[in-house]
Amino acid sequence: MSTYNVRLYQDSDFLAVRRIFTHGCHGHTAAAFYKALKLPHNWLLLLVVFLLPLVTIGSILLSILDVVIVLLMLWLSGREFFHSYAKHALLDDLKDITRYYLQREGYCFWVVESPAGEVVGMVAAAISHLPGGEKHIELKRMSVARTHRGKGIAKLLCRTLINFARKSECEAVVLSTTTVQDDALRLYERIGFRHAHTTYATKFTERLVRITYVIYKYDILKS
Ligand SMILES: CC(C)(COP(=O)(O)OP(=O)(O)OC[C@H]1O[C@@H](n2cnc3c(N)ncnc32)[C@H](O)[C@@H]1OP(=O)(O)O)[C@@H](O)C(=O)NCCC(=O)NCCS
Repeated sequence: MSTYNVRLYQDSDFLAVRRIFTHGCHGHTAAAFYKALKLPHNWLLLLVVFLLPLVTIGSILLSILDVVIVLLMLWLSGREFFHSYAKHALLDDLKDITRYYLQREGYCFWVVESPAGEVVGMVAAAISHLPGGEKHIELKRMSVARTHRGKGIAKLLCRTLINFARKSECEAVVLSTTTVQDDALRLYERIGFRHAHTTYATKFTERLVRITYVIYKYDILKS
């Protein structure tokens, strides 16, 4: 693990960072779909759309077509959520990372370099606008390239950010993630973040796949 090096973001990392972030977000589409398939309201929906054409006009073909359409709708709902999340970030804070994160007090951006000098992970710190307090730093944009996961890189990035927050005399680090991101949930709990509260999505497509936002908090004063 010591062969991975955390350093501040540089302009030459721009494309690598945007690629890792985008791949990380897009990678959640499948997880969102499989979670949606386990939800009772979606079983019911699939059963209804299957039985309706069969019972009313006796068409098995239409029944199968309806099921395929619902499955596609579930896939696209998850995809739309994570793709638009990535798109929004790329047009917002990830458009000019140096200006957004490195030229403002309370903000920072780190990357991890592999032994081969390749950028393989990233995390950002920002002054929190999440509910709960002014002296909080928000952990954002945590992402590790798929081929380098499970090697402790995210833990290293979390510790770097927590140290930054401690030096900035913040009371806590907060973050927002979703119930779809199992690896992230395990990571934050392992580090010592505690569940602070949950926000339910309001858009129809998000409710269909039941994407739930989870806010986590790491109390620096208690650690
Ligand atoms: C979540 C993510 C950042 C984890 O990165 P990582 O470098 O693989 O994580 P680490 O190797 O540092 O693992 C840290 C802890 O998380 C847990 N964890 C991470 N990935 C896991 C997995 N696939 N299975 C089980 N536990 C996992 C482990 O408990 C691990 O601690 P341990 O090694 O002491 O048991 C990475 O999977 C990722 O980039 N995902 C896509 C983007 C994303 O979801 N980002 C979070 C945004 S909120």
